[in-house]
Amino acid sequence: MMRPLIYATRRLPDEAVTMLLASGELSSWDSAEQPVPREQLLASIGSVEGLLSLITDRIDSEVLAAAPRLRVIANMAVGYDNIDVAACTARGVLVTNTPNVLTETTADLAWALILAAARRIVEGQKLIESGGWGPWHPMQLVGVDVFGATLGVVGAGRIGTAVLRRGVGFGMRLSYHNRRPNLELEAKTGAAYRDLDTLLAESDIIVVTVPLNAETRSMFGAREFALMKPRAVFVNVARGAVVREDALVEALRSGQIWAAGLDVFEREPIGPDHPFLSLPNVVTVPHIGSASIATRTRMATLAAENLVAALHGQPVPNPINPEAWV
Ligand code: NAP
Ligand code: GLV
Repeated sequence: MMRPLIYATRRLPDEAVTMLLASGELSSWDSAEQPVPREQLLASIGSVEGLLSLITDRIDSEVLAAAPRLRVIANMAVGYDNIDVAACTARGVLVTNTPNVLTETTADLAWALILAAARRIVEGQKLIESGGWGPWHPMQLVGVDVFGATLGVVGAGRIGTAVLRRGVGFGMRLSYHNRRPNLELEAKTGAAYRDLDTLLAESDIIVVTVPLNAETRSMFGAREFALMKPRAVFVNVARGAVVREDALVEALRSGQIWAAGLDVFEREPIGPDHPFLSLPNVVTVPHIGSASIATRTRMATLAAENLVAALHGQPVPNPINPEAWV
């Protein structure tokens, strides 16, 4: 039997490579750090049936046209806003993602940002590094309390629920906003449903975990930041484009909100010249939500499992558009 041709757009952890090699002819872009250049990708997929992609790869009709034999795209991420799923479905190409395995790791990172932004951890580190730490004084680097505060999660699915669960240990009042109430989530966490504007007005800490799509793009702009409390902490671990960055910069610069913790940005990577880096009340990290050794390895093996199952006609663990193959 012919072994299917597979292309991986990045050098993957050994565990995933072993799985792919066992079930197909694998070629890949041989860099762990740099994305495959567009022209190289288009030139490499003419005969492939399975594509293992990353969030840095834009998968659109041009890619589909360059891969006439393509049957499945396994994205090594839970988010799949980098993929034109409708175009894939129309071409009969199955798309898969990697939910669940990164949920807790990403919720941990959201909490790292909550605590760092609220308690000015990075400012403190910079003060010591600069040699500027003088005698203790009563109001030095005072922040806002997390324990006992009101936590509002926008997009409380897998990750958002895990963020809320951690809030129980911090004695917080919990609320969430989804497109519709989720009674199971409320029973599990004690969180209360709020419409978006009420959540923004009531919360001390706001964490965003919505997927990026046409409905959520630019969901947070000047109007939404104006609704927030002056001591609000805003944390985004979803996608940068759910936020109007110019409006967030203005809200932080003017003191309309207290601080922000950001893992994701409209155009990644950002550099040191980005306006966020000029603001002392912003903590930025480079899209490391799921970046633990165990979780990134598991994401790679789950993406490989999805790809292999699809190519061999076995049940696929995480299909996004199962209708593509009906
Ligand atoms: P999920 O389980 O699908 O949760 C998303 C939640 O958002 C759902 O509960 C959904 O509830 C809600 N939602 C969808 N559209 C909404 C809207 N217009 N308004 C309000 N709520 C809305 O997904 P997840 O696994 O938690 O992942 C969420 C996102 O996090 C991913 O799509 C990805 O972009 C991002 N992510 C980032 C990192 C990182 O490294 N920073 C890591 C993993 C994931 P309803 O359907 O009831 O509205
Ligand atoms: C990472 O951002 C993911 O969507 O898994």
